[in-house]
Amino acid sequence: MSLDDLFAAAKQAQARAYAPYSRFKVGAAVRGRDGGVYSGCNVENAAFPAGTCAEEAAIAAMVAAGESRIAEVLVIGGGDTLVTPCGACRQRIREFAAPHTAIHVAGPEGVRRSFMLEDLLPFSFGPDTLGRGEGDR
Ligand code: THU
Repeated sequence: MSLDDLFAAAKQAQARAYAPYSRFKVGAAVRGRDGGVYSGCNVENAAFPAGTCAEEAAIAAMVAAGESRIAEVLVIGGGDTLVTPCGACRQRIREFAAPHTAIHVAGPEGVRRSFMLEDLLPFSFGPDTLGRGEGDR
């Protein structure tokens, strides 16, 4: 499946990021399994821990739209290194994704590398650990 729509949504969100402290703008887009695309950006705060991540915002938009299953994720950041989701965001993705769900990491020029969730968060704790399956969502 083409990543053009996910990339465009994440890039537009990245441009709107509020990151005056780190100056590191991040955009994220998730595709729900029903096909919808939801995006978000990082929103920092003068009280630093109150800031939020791009993936967090995209997942919140997805849930607010009534979707609860992630088909794939794309994250875009600047710089030369791979902007992989932070630890907390890997866990947030985990809540709504499957072990083989793709997480694409992009720079301004396009996707740099794609991972599976289980690569980034092996042996993870999740809803199934608590006896909850997809049917409960
Ligand atoms: N950031 C994200 O939005 N997502 C990540 O997965 C990594 C980090 C943001 C948080 C903060 O606003 C900035 O990047 C620098 O850490």
